[in-house]
Amino acid sequence: MKEIIKRPQSFVGSSILIPGDKSISHRGLILGAIAQGLTEVVDILEGEDVQSTGKCLRALGVKIWKEGRSTWIEGVGRKGFQTPTENLDCGNSGTTMRVMMGVLAGSTIEATLFGDASLSKRPMKRVCGPLREMGAEIILTNENFSPLTIKGSALQGINYELKIASAQIKTAIILAALQAKGTTTIFGEVGSRDHTERLLESFQANIKVSSGEIHIPGSQYLKAAKVIVPSDPSTAAFWIAAAALIPNSQLELQNISLNPTRTGFIEVIKRAGVKIETKTHIQNPEPIGKVRVQHSLLKGFTIEKDEVPSLIDEIPLLAVLATQCEGTTVISGAEELRVKESDRIEAVATNLRSMGAVIETYPDGFKIVGPQTLKGATIKTFHDHRIAMAFSVAGLVADGETIIEDAQCAAVSYPDFYLDLKKLTKENP
Ligand code: S3P
Repeated sequence: MKEIIKRPQSFVGSSILIPGDKSISHRGLILGAIAQGLTEVVDILEGEDVQSTGKCLRALGVKIWKEGRSTWIEGVGRKGFQTPTENLDCGNSGTTMRVMMGVLAGSTIEATLFGDASLSKRPMKRVCGPLREMGAEIILTNENFSPLTIKGSALQGINYELKIASAQIKTAIILAALQAKGTTTIFGEVGSRDHTERLLESFQANIKVSSGEIHIPGSQYLKAAKVIVPSDPSTAAFWIAAAALIPNSQLELQNISLNPTRTGFIEVIKRAGVKIETKTHIQNPEPIGKVRVQHSLLKGFTIEKDEVPSLIDEIPLLAVLATQCEGTTVISGAEELRVKESDRIEAVATNLRSMGAVIETYPDGFKIVGPQTLKGATIKTFHDHRIAMAFSVAGLVADGETIIEDAQCAAVSYPDFYLDLKKLTKENP
């Protein structure tokens, strides 16, 4: 499916409802599945990635159903998972595969996990390493990839230094640790998104997070909880950027997750001169509030390693934004972009160049000197949802028509992205 994007007069919307947070949706389903009792997840994301998690859990014998805005999960608790009769299809979802590895490592069953062409190229040794140290039995394809087979086994707590700031790896270790004998301590790069740590408290787990360390006593069972899913800030970012870039625009978004491990994008665009305000209404377990933004004149910005985890998924969009900024933008310490749903540094460079922009790439980031005029072009998404959506925003500020090839890949995290785009650009005064 192709989408054609043109420059609108303005971009106005207060009626738009941003879909649920992808990370919290996955975790709500998975924690609900292993807990004892009936978990309710309100406003779950209906995207394909979260559906992949639901499908895997159903194949493991978990009952999941929907009633209105609520998704109900009958957790397996002490009974444990059923041996699946089929291999578990994780689709395009790295979170599904990596987090399920942690859950299955200490189970009593054997399962094989596989994914689409993109997921089959993504590294899995990074998760397997700590899980094997705990005693997990995992067979990887070519020592690093999926399809992979996990045979559940008795696990032992470990002290583990996390060297990559990845919430997927951290979550896999935490969920394995709950099933292990003895305490697990994780230290090092633990500052990535902390939804697992926060949600585990709602599921009455005993987990301590203090001064850069996470302590998880083993042999724990979770109790069912109610999880309210706020709107996804990484999804909201596309409309925030569009409003900032397009003259005469203003936008107010409600119910956005303002978790400090996810607000890096807002902090950076503030530095770039964007007029943006946030107001937090709810603090626990997840900070949630509203965001108001209007068209602004932008200047170049710098992002270094420390800030990357809080905005990792927004970097393709920040590259598009950088082309419209006065001055130099440099992003470094973001080598993880090379192993996302696509090599996002290459995908950004290829598409910006096809729009006539100049970008210098590095192994861990890029440099863009702006402002630059973007020309409409045919965009290759590399089947990556965030590339499709970031370059749709580029199309809104480009001269002429931009064609997004394979635009349906946006459904991984935002099934109605193109419908909402039409709504937001039709509401023009
Ligand atoms: C996610 C963590 C991040 C992020 C991904 C979702 C999660 O990945 O890019 O979209 O839900 O834990 P890493 O853990 O690989 O950094």
